[in-house]
Amino acid sequence: MTRYAVDLRSDTVTMPSAAMRRAMADAEVGDDWYGDDPTVDRLQERAAEITGKEAAQYVPTGTMANQIGLRLHVTGSGHLVAATSGAHVASTEPMTSAVLSGITFRTGDPGPRGWMTAELARALVETEDPYDVEVVDLLAVENTVGHAGGTVLPVEELRAIRKVADDNGLPIHLDGARIFNAAVAAGVDVVDYAREVDTMMFCVSKGLGAPIGSLVCGSREQMREARRLKILFGGAWRQAGIMAAAGLIALQDGPGRLHEDHARARALAEGVAERLPGSVDPTSVETNMVYVDPRVAGVEPLEAIERLASQGVGATFVAGKVRMVTHVDVDDEGIAVALDAWRSIVEDRPKEL
Ligand SMILES: Cc1ncc(COP(=O)(O)O)c(C=O)c1O
Repeated sequence: MTRYAVDLRSDTVTMPSAAMRRAMADAEVGDDWYGDDPTVDRLQERAAEITGKEAAQYVPTGTMANQIGLRLHVTGSGHLVAATSGAHVASTEPMTSAVLSGITFRTGDPGPRGWMTAELARALVETEDPYDVEVVDLLAVENTVGHAGGTVLPVEELRAIRKVADDNGLPIHLDGARIFNAAVAAGVDVVDYAREVDTMMFCVSKGLGAPIGSLVCGSREQMREARRLKILFGGAWRQAGIMAAAGLIALQDGPGRLHEDHARARALAEGVAERLPGSVDPTSVETNMVYVDPRVAGVEPLEAIERLASQGVGATFVAGKVRMVTHVDVDDEGIAVALDAWRSIVEDRPKEL
């Protein structure tokens, strides 16, 4: 049980639904190292179907899915991957890919919405280096863009990035940890995004509500190597069908309700903006994340997080702000609890402000 009345720290904190728990209890399992866990196989087939890719590999974490996805595109060590400076692969995982795959990043600052643009991709890839030493081997994009507030990379922009990649003979890896949130918000199919990239990953453990797991997706040949890498990286997780059973329910029930999380995030942002004008722009909330800067009211973000926690509201410190994320376990009542906590923070702030 969470220690919060409403836990907005992340969409990773969800509890498995009753249907998931039943499916997990009844799951038919095998040994995934040998590739004979039927429930894992079903989840992988479903992931391939839903993304329009030939095959998929089920792995324990989004980080491992990204690391396999990146590694699939490089041979040997000493590779540059182009990404936005805030991208999860470049800001949270760079040491992991340095250690596992000899990769480092060439990054640039994105526009105000945080996503990779074709213009930035071109600037990162087509440099003035006349000696062909610092060669970028891969373009990495993220959707939704977590550090930028869950913003949505539009399909048209991804198509333009694809053109840059093609002009330079480069593959693209998509960190689609929250690609279903992006697809729902953009009103497009996940396949429309997947079509423009060579490999992608998505998490069933975030907005879709499963307790554990991510899927890396690509061609059949890539996924043969992905399986080898999964084992190489220590991800042979044997009777993983117990988890995959919940992943199948997440894929079935998750996408259809994400619009509710997005609406609640917008309502939360509007409520906070009313109480703390200037601390958040509700129109910037595109999916399930709300970033608040309480310093406009003289309150430091870490202090606000502590105050929220003392009133049973979980929030985190990300990108210098207070981050709150809606998910399947947050209802309207939870939003009201959070807004009450924000009201008391405003009421108790130092009077001279
Ligand atoms: C955009 C993005 N990519 C990848 C990951 C890594 O996922 P995991 O925590 O399952 O390793 C996260 C985690 O929050 C994320 O937000």
